[in-house]
Amino acid sequence: MRVLAIESSCDESAAAIYDDTQGLLAHELFSQVELHRIFGGVVPELASRDHVRRLLPLVKSALARAATDPRELSGVVYTAGPGLIGALLTGAALGRSLAYGWGIPALGVHHLEAHLLAPLLEPEAPPFPHVALLVSGGHTMLIEVRAVGSYGILGQTRDDAAGEAFDKTAKLLGLPYPGGPELAQLAERGRPGVFTFPRPMLDRAGLEFSFSGLKTAVLHTVRGREMTAAVTADIAYAVQEAIVETLVAKSLRALEATGLDTLVVSGGVGANKLLRNRMRAAVTARGGCVFYPRFEFCTDNAAMIAVAGMRRLAAGQHAGLEIAARAQWPLDTLEAL
Ligand code: KG4
Ligand code: ZN
Repeated sequence: MRVLAIESSCDESAAAIYDDTQGLLAHELFSQVELHRIFGGVVPELASRDHVRRLLPLVKSALARAATDPRELSGVVYTAGPGLIGALLTGAALGRSLAYGWGIPALGVHHLEAHLLAPLLEPEAPPFPHVALLVSGGHTMLIEVRAVGSYGILGQTRDDAAGEAFDKTAKLLGLPYPGGPELAQLAERGRPGVFTFPRPMLDRAGLEFSFSGLKTAVLHTVRGREMTAAVTADIAYAVQEAIVETLVAKSLRALEATGLDTLVVSGGVGANKLLRNRMRAAVTARGGCVFYPRFEFCTDNAAMIAVAGMRRLAAGQHAGLEIAARAQWPLDTLEAL
């Protein structure tokens, strides 16, 4: 089987070709980050319009790079949600229509399931069952992954997602959008012990997160203070420490609670180097194993959509002629394979 995958849930337009025996043959991506930067966040209408411009050329170049004729494809999979509805509809309409034109099945993929399955793109794939920490711009969740499609939510954020906490505090520090990677880079020059921010919910039992207090704490620290380069870096350091420590501690707690010893970290914040290093050290210290997708497959991409979609197409699932797109789509309502 060989599939074409399309991703357009937010501000990345992407296409990939994946083969069930040869693996990933091509993945193309266009990030709209420059388009949204002056607005300090993703503008949904602009995102949709840009997907319309970018997607078909990306599909064409993915097919060319994979030396694949559409007649060799067994299906088209596309991100059907959750995400920005207008943005989702562009990829869904294109994906469903190409499949119709080519006379092959189409299937809408759950974006978070795709993030969860992204480590399957790596040579060493995590075993099931495992615990997944899904940390992106929109989600912070600990999930018991029993099998493909069988997900039990152990805990999630009550307010801001971890990526949102990175982005919003970065904005308070005057860093350009998207702030997460910028803040992480700046934190490398920060000094330990100068500032300390609360570790949200760490003192409470359970696996819930809350990051909105961190943003308020940073706001109070910044207000009225002369923001020299050194102070900004010290605050960035303390913010990153607070977020990473919270994520690591709760992940360990989730392993403890489930009795599992394999952890998968996925989603955009999974690209954070400090998080990767600290998590690996903490989990291996208790005899467990951590799996990450490579950096480029932590953030939004079509390769992960291909892997998730391929699994479901191979299991005989495909959709009718409807163009499926859902802004909200609870992960624990998916059909187990
Ligand atoms: O998974 P993703 O690409 O999109 C969503 O589905 O949300 O995640 C994007 C999020 C943004 O909040 C971004 O700032 C954050 O991931 N991010 C990072 C890093 N790289 C991306 N946060 C901290 N450190 C990074 N290196
Ligand atoms: Zn994502």
